[in-house]
Amino acid sequence: MKTNLNRFLPPSAARRMRTLIVGLCAFGVAAFILSCETVNRTVMIPPMIPGAKFVGSETCAQCHEDLAKGFKTATHARLEAKGKNAEGAGCESCHGPGSLHVDAGGGHNTADKITILNPGKDPRTCFQCHLDKRGEFSLPHSHPVLHGKMTCTDCHNPHKGSAIVAGGTALLDKNETCFKCHKAQKGPFVFQHEAMREGCTVCHAVHGSVNAKMLKERNQMLCLKCHFQQQTARGQILIGGRDHAAFLKTGTCWSAGCHEAVHGSNESSSQRF
Ligand code: HEC
Ligand code: HEC
Ligand code: HEC
Ligand code: HEC
Ligand code: HEC
Ligand code: HEC
Ligand code: HEC
Repeated sequence: MKTNLNRFLPPSAARRMRTLIVGLCAFGVAAFILSCETVNRTVMIPPMIPGAKFVGSETCAQCHEDLAKGFKTATHARLEAKGKNAEGAGCESCHGPGSLHVDAGGGHNTADKITILNPGKDPRTCFQCHLDKRGEFSLPHSHPVLHGKMTCTDCHNPHKGSAIVAGGTALLDKNETCFKCHKAQKGPFVFQHEAMREGCTVCHAVHGSVNAKMLKERNQMLCLKCHFQQQTARGQILIGGRDHAAFLKTGTCWSAGCHEAVHGSNESSSQRF
């Protein structure tokens, strides 16, 4: 993977960071083999900063008050609450042990001294524990996270609330995350496809997919999850009360001339979407 640390750090710091991360990976592999502790399908491996010790999130709260307050509601704070692996839980599970940073009175990293990890847009912080996601983003159709064009934190908030940004209980809120970048799908449409209420993820595998447009299915199965198909004796395939047998031979449900405007349409409910 091409690293894009250069964008965020001066060259020498980037070099150090890279060395640190390589070390981190080596440590990670060792830790994985040695402990293999699994918490909800996730392996916990706290990151390292040479010479630094864990101080606990409470110490961070002294100076990063707002972040610490929000963090009480964060998905990742649950890891700390579980008391498991308390060393390196909380803030330090992503930022590494904080003693050098705290001893220095906080502050930004400099070219020759990294006291605390600032992941910036680097997804490797998340891959430490969510290694399976690297595979998903390597699929042929995926959000360009591995290319440094976007980051896990564009969609997931590590510091506050549900890790799924604007997640919570209202499913429509989840779509707001997507609308930040995909305004065309937001509408408003005269005829909104009701499937949108269920969220973008009923049709899209948003990390990545083998199918074009990150679709969960490449054919009519995508739609038949919700739209009942009736097979009649005369070889008809009724969907929505209309014979689709001939249509289904010509392409997908969303091929040109069919339900093209699958997210919503201002023209008509049935033909255009
Ligand atoms: C003594 C006060 C203090 C404490 C304690 C402290 N920080 Fe900081 N930290 C700062 C200041 C000041 C900055 C500079 C940027 C800012 O004002 O947010 C900073 C910056 C950072 C940065 C960004 C570094 C960069 O190069 O951009 C991270 C990440 C960070 N802190 C995490 C932590 C974590 C995690 C802890 C607990 C282990 C912690 N801090 C404890 C004061 C502190
Ligand atoms: C699940 C991982 C994770 C945890 C846990 C976490 N952070 Fe972060 N933190 C990040 C990431 C990722 C970034 C970079 C965000 C970005 O630039 O999009 C970041 C950025 C920061 C920054 C720099 C913000 C800036 O504007 O540059 C500070 C300060 C910080 N975190 C402090 C904390 C504190 C304090 C805690 C605990 C209360 C904490 N973090 C817990 C992942 C985490
Ligand atoms: C130290 C290990 C660790 C790190 C580092 C880590 N996570 Fe997690 N993450 C977990 C665990 C464990 C869970 C399951 C928490 C639970 O369900 O109690 C989780 C849950 C999640 C969830 C699911 C939330 C939900 O409500 O289902 C998301 C999304 C997530 N993490 C994203 C991230 C992102 C993005 C990063 C990097 C900024 C990151 N994680 C870094 C361990 C980690
Ligand atoms: C384009 C937005 C987007 C990006 C970028 C993104 N995610 Fe997600 N992620 C989601 C959504 C939406 C869900 C909920 C999926 C669902 O409900 O089917 C999710 C679910 C998750 C989950 C919990 C469910 C699961 O699949 O295990 C984890 C963990 C996770 N993401 C980690 C990550 C990590 C790590 C990265 C960066 C390498 C990342 N995500 C980047 C949108 C995104
Ligand atoms: C930070 C911006 C951003 C966010 C947030 C975001 N995306 Fe994307 N999305 C992109 C980029 C960039 C691409 C790649 C476009 C390209 O390759 O031309 C993309 C591509 C896609 C594609 C494939 C488009 C194509 O033509 O192949 C789909 C589908 C998609 N995103 C859905 C979603 C969904 C669903 C969400 C919310 C869970 C989401 N996106 C959140 C930026 C974003
Ligand atoms: C009912 C299934 C379904 C739902 C729900 C859905 N999509 Fe799609 N989406 C599709 C299909 C099918 C395509 C492919 C259209 C094509 O190839 O012409 C697509 C294509 C896209 C594209 C690529 C641009 C384009 O129009 O070809 C983006 C971006 C996208 N969807 C974003 C979203 C977002 C954001 C949401 C949630 C707000 C969402 N989709 C919800 C089925 C769905
Ligand atoms: C999550 C469930 C769901 C999925 C998946 C889904 N739909 Fe729908 N769709 C609905 C609901 C609910 C309605 C409104 C009730 C109805 O007309 O059946 C609807 C309505 C429609 C209509 C309007 C019917 C009319 O006469 O007004 C069309 C056309 C349509 N969907 C096409 C598709 C296509 C094409 C796909 C696949 C890309 C798809 N749907 C996937 C739930 C879904």
